[in-house]
Amino acid sequence: MTIGFIGGSGIYEALPLQETREVDVETPYGDPSAPAVVGEFGDTGREIVFLPRHGPDHQHSPTTLPYRANIYALKELGVTHVIASNAVGSLREDLPPQTLVIPDQIYDRTKHRDLTFFDEGVVVHQPFAEPYCPELADVIADAAEEAADADVVRGGTYVCIEGPQYSTRAESEFYREQGWDVIGMTTIPEAKLAREAEMSYATVTGVTDYDVWKEDSEVTLEEVLENAAANETAIKETVEAAIRALPEDHECDCHSSLEGTINTPDDAISE
Ligand code: ADE
Repeated sequence: MTIGFIGGSGIYEALPLQETREVDVETPYGDPSAPAVVGEFGDTGREIVFLPRHGPDHQHSPTTLPYRANIYALKELGVTHVIASNAVGSLREDLPPQTLVIPDQIYDRTKHRDLTFFDEGVVVHQPFAEPYCPELADVIADAAEEAADADVVRGGTYVCIEGPQYSTRAESEFYREQGWDVIGMTTIPEAKLAREAEMSYATVTGVTDYDVWKEDSEVTLEEVLENAAANETAIKETVEAAIRALPEDHECDCHSSLEGTINTPDDAISE
């Protein structure tokens, strides 16, 4: 088992890793967001691969992020389980900034992203009813409840918008009426690509703001950045506890998720 950690906004530094090395992975999709940092985690002897999603200087926007290169690079480095973190806005009064939410559903409102590795010569239709690995999400939620000094909410729907602009009030009210819980810009296509790469994938999201459904509210970058920085410790505590808790021999359906999903006969697939 090798665990990858994709750090979202506010998480640019790796976890406490020893014997670290930076690895540039060449991929058919160009460069990943940053060189991967590979190292041993604390006294566990576990190898961890860290990638800051937006790049070390936050230079990649949610639309132009090299999602395929990132997931490809993690797979190349032997990653079997991906723990992600994302900054999100809140669609619920009872989820104030600095709450951690471990979502179990996604509503995809993105429009301009490459959603699959299988876009040439092979057609793959994968199940995605459970977009996050339920087992890994449970480990993360337990870890957050035990280790993080923050309110933790298990489950919820993450509506993923294209961005980079925040939502209009009409959009925000609509999302809220659907009963969705948090809003962000980056869980899609990451979750889809991780499933295609047969890796377990789940995320811990940190609330940075109330989205604009709240009367007279505007999302400001200043507020988002302030709360993303405030969430950093709780997210790292969560990820560290999850790394310790994940059983070494953990296996689940995510690891064979391509089985029975390739809708192109073998002899029609060119190398
Ligand atoms: N990321 C953090 N806050 C957000 C919001 N309100 N909308 C979309 N993405 C976000």
